[in-house]
Amino acid sequence: MANQTNCSILSAKYTPQTVLSKTVWLSDKLFSLKVSRDPAFHFAPGQFARLGLSISAADILTPNEWRAYSMVSHPSEDALEFFSVVVPDGKFSPTLAALAPGDTLWINKTVFGFLTLDQFADGDDLWLVSTGTGLSAYISMLREASTWQRFKRIVVLHGVRHAGELAYRDELLHLQNQHSTLGERTDKAALVYLPVTSQEPLKPELSPAITPQHLSANRLTTLLARGELEERTGVTLDPERSRIMLCGNPAMVTDMRALLAERGFAAGRRGVAGNLAVENYW
Ligand SMILES: Cc1cc2nc3c(=O)[nH]c(=O)nc-3n(C[C@H](O)[C@H](O)[C@H](O)COP(=O)(O)OP(=O)(O)OC[C@H]3O[C@@H](n4cnc5c(N)ncnc54)[C@H](O)[C@@H]3O)c2cc1C
Ligand SMILES: NC(=O)c1ccc[n+]([C@@H]2O[C@H](COP(=O)([O-])OP(=O)(O)OC[C@H]3O[C@@H](n4cnc5c(N)ncnc54)[C@H](OP(=O)(O)O)[C@@H]3O)[C@@H](O)[C@H]2O)c1
Repeated sequence: MANQTNCSILSAKYTPQTVLSKTVWLSDKLFSLKVSRDPAFHFAPGQFARLGLSISAADILTPNEWRAYSMVSHPSEDALEFFSVVVPDGKFSPTLAALAPGDTLWINKTVFGFLTLDQFADGDDLWLVSTGTGLSAYISMLREASTWQRFKRIVVLHGVRHAGELAYRDELLHLQNQHSTLGERTDKAALVYLPVTSQEPLKPELSPAITPQHLSANRLTTLLARGELEERTGVTLDPERSRIMLCGNPAMVTDMRALLAERGFAAGRRGVAGNLAVENYW
């Protein structure tokens, strides 16, 4: 019987993994999980996995709900890391949020997604634009050494409703301190990290790089339309030199994409690299 179970797990499209640790960024809203990893599970920064849970199923050993989640971890890390929102009436995320170390999470063996840096020809500035948990895919890219060698500057924009939702801020501020010089190409890019809150003004201590007049509550799209994104970051958008990724809320992606199209940005087509790559989270 045990042998039969082992055989069916091996032939299944997914593997059972174990939750190793959990970080709660904001109670009842945002958390990250570190999960054991099947040695055969390989991915590129920016790709996503399909996570499975057994939700109200007769057989608790068979996952019956699946959702896409970007890997936050670097491909070489022993554990996989995921960053999740809790959708109040969601079918999947509240159960995912209730997992504790030792619990099982199922992971599809196949990885998915094209929000990867190989979509772009080299450029000077890489803009990583996210709302909410859309930041997930970028953390993995920023943990990859070659990302820092391909660009002169990396601009990370993280749009959230409230400052308490600025997950991974310490890691981003640490990277910003490590890579703080805007200048000629070296082996390391400079990082500009710009958190933006839409429902309350930012406090200065949350974003040391921002001057007081740049703390007002806003959406990323409003800032782009007003020219304030470039003013706040000190980096000019230029279709020849800038490469932009958009990830997160589909309405943000649509609106941002339309604004960027007016500035000469478009996704690649038929093997021709573009200067824009996007991923919608729902
Ligand atoms: C390619 C891809 C990658 C994804 N990566 C992540 C990830 O890294 N982290 C993550 O938390 N989610 C991610 N998602 C979303 C995730 O798959 C689920 O939709 C989410 O966990 C909610 O599941 P649910 O069943 O609780 O609610 P669902 O029934 O799936 O969604 C209900 C509603 O909740 C809202 N919603 C869904 N996901 C989010 C979100 N991430 N942020 C804010 N509002 C949301 C939308 O209004 C949606 O209509 C990704 C989705 C895709 C397509
Ligand atoms: N029922 C409620 O009142 C309520 C309240 C909060 C969250 N929620 C739920 O909580 C979940 C997570 O919410 P979340 O805040 O993490 O994610 P979210 O809804 O995607 O919001 C993240 C950020 O994206 C911004 N945004 C939304 N649409 C945009 C657009 N078209 N252009 C530019 N920016 C845009 C939001 O600004 P804005 O703040 O200006 O929209 C916010 O700053 C969702 O399921 C949501 O429905 C519900």
